[in-house]
Amino acid sequence: MELSELEKKCLKCEKCPLSQGRTNVVFGEGAPGAKIMLVGEGPGENEDLQGRPFVGRSGQLLDKFLEAADLSREKNVYIANMVKCRPPKNRDPKPEEQELCIDWLRAQFKAIRPRIIVCVGRISAQRLIGADFRVTKQHGEFVEKNGVLMMGTYHPAAILRNPNNKEAAFADWLAVRDKARELGIEL
Ligand code: URA
Repeated sequence: MELSELEKKCLKCEKCPLSQGRTNVVFGEGAPGAKIMLVGEGPGENEDLQGRPFVGRSGQLLDKFLEAADLSREKNVYIANMVKCRPPKNRDPKPEEQELCIDWLRAQFKAIRPRIIVCVGRISAQRLIGADFRVTKQHGEFVEKNGVLMMGTYHPAAILRNPNNKEAAFADWLAVRDKARELGIEL
């Protein structure tokens, strides 16, 4: 299914209780033809209000990291989340909420066919890379899964809480750029 058609369907989704509390579904956004896909956790307050991923303080920091690595949602990446509706008070999405939402993400993978998937933060890394994924230990490591290179990095909200990890996060985004170039992806 095409992304636009998928989005239309997703905007009407009421599969899980998170749909009841949302202002907007945050389906995802990015460059057409993006070969790099980012998967965050779920919408926060600003994202819920605007219907767009990573537009609050975390998003501003994420955009800075991306820019430093020749990446941007306008040019060459697509950004989505594990869950498309805001969890109350920005709590972590529950496993059952993620399970009810993951078919949308799978369909996004199918439509976009990314070569690289970056898990932004623990929640998506543990669901998509491995249940015991530890960001502090495994950030920046690429692993291949079903022909796609996957990597987990720090969530920008975690960097805002603990700026000590900023350099490490920065290095991860540069590694994404380098890996993309290695694969012949034009940035
Ligand atoms: N945090 C996320 O994980 N995703 C967003 O879209 C915004 C903040």
